[in-house]
Amino acid sequence: MKARRLGTTDIEISPIGLGCMQFSGTRNVARLMIRPIEEETATAVVRAALDGGITWFDTAEMYGAGNSEEVLAAALKECGVAPGQVAVATKWAPLGRTAASITRTIGDRLAHLGGYPVDLHQIHMPTGSLSGLPAQLRAMAALARAGRIRAVGVSNFSARQMVLAHRVLAAEGVALAANQVRISLLRRDIERDGVLETARRLGVTLIAYSPLDGGLLTGRYHDDPELTRNAPVMRRFFGRRDLSTRGLARTAPLIDAMRRIAAGHGVTVGQVALNWVITRYGDTVVAIPGASKPRQAAEAAGAMGFTLTAAEAGELDELSR
Ligand SMILES: NC(=O)c1ccc[n+]([C@@H]2O[C@H](COP(=O)([O-])OP(=O)(O)OC[C@H]3O[C@@H](n4cnc5c(N)ncnc54)[C@H](OP(=O)(O)O)[C@@H]3O)[C@@H](O)[C@H]2O)c1
Repeated sequence: MKARRLGTTDIEISPIGLGCMQFSGTRNVARLMIRPIEEETATAVVRAALDGGITWFDTAEMYGAGNSEEVLAAALKECGVAPGQVAVATKWAPLGRTAASITRTIGDRLAHLGGYPVDLHQIHMPTGSLSGLPAQLRAMAALARAGRIRAVGVSNFSARQMVLAHRVLAAEGVALAANQVRISLLRRDIERDGVLETARRLGVTLIAYSPLDGGLLTGRYHDDPELTRNAPVMRRFFGRRDLSTRGLARTAPLIDAMRRIAAGHGVTVGQVALNWVITRYGDTVVAIPGASKPRQAAEAAGAMGFTLTAAEAGELDELSR
């Protein structure tokens, strides 16, 4: 599958990137959301992603207070990747901080990334900062103008907030490159809440996070409902409707269709889920599945290697509505 442009920038990315929250380390709150992995495993995961054709990685300050950034950089180095050979996206954590901390903490981001540049710097969420969004966006624009980051993005922004971000950045001579939001076969809110339409109009890339719904869309919980007991605490709590017996029964027809479609292409159910996300919306949406095993990263990369027929895409569309 062809590389895509990140927004209107000259940064090229594969339609699938690797989500690196799984590199947060075992001693922080991220473990409530994902299955954290050791550094050695992370290196194997990054190697599998690279081998499969993944050319960019998404991390964040919040993923273990820089731990994920450090582990990613170490893994890239171990894999022989030179700075600039892949793209790296990270995020600033707004909670309880003013916009000035964007400027103050960019040195930490770059230090944790150990020589790999910040290709995309994102405001992790629109709430929680002690400064307004315009001040945060102007601080990001200043970093871009100073060449400390290549592009500016946001995350979890609504359509209205995207318009604001685009306007404030444009006044500073900087483009809004991306909005990172939750998108999957079971989370299609962007089609209704204006985010998709706004992204297309403004030339902004949407980065789909949790595109596998934490593994639900691989069919593993349908295969073995007992596995839901081992899901990370927050997944069990926030996903309790989806992971309950009734929830799994509700999505079973979709998973059954995905199994049939997957078998026809010689791929897995999870690959069908990822392929749908990166093709359903044309070039606008790219996805960043997470992986706690090299095999999962290889599978994620393999989702770029086939094409769903129009009939298959239509069936998935219907069943996931
Ligand atoms: N901007 C934000 O607010 C935000 C929020 C959440 C996430 N993110 C980003 O999005 C990335 C991905 O999100 P996510 O990790 O929450 O969800 P996800 O990509 O939907 O799910 C990833 C999990 O699915 C399971 N999985 C992956 N491949 C599999 C396979 N082939 N077979 C079976 N299970 C498989 C693994 O679970 P196990 O490890 O349990 O096996 C893996 O950790 C994160 O790493 C992060 O970079 C951003």
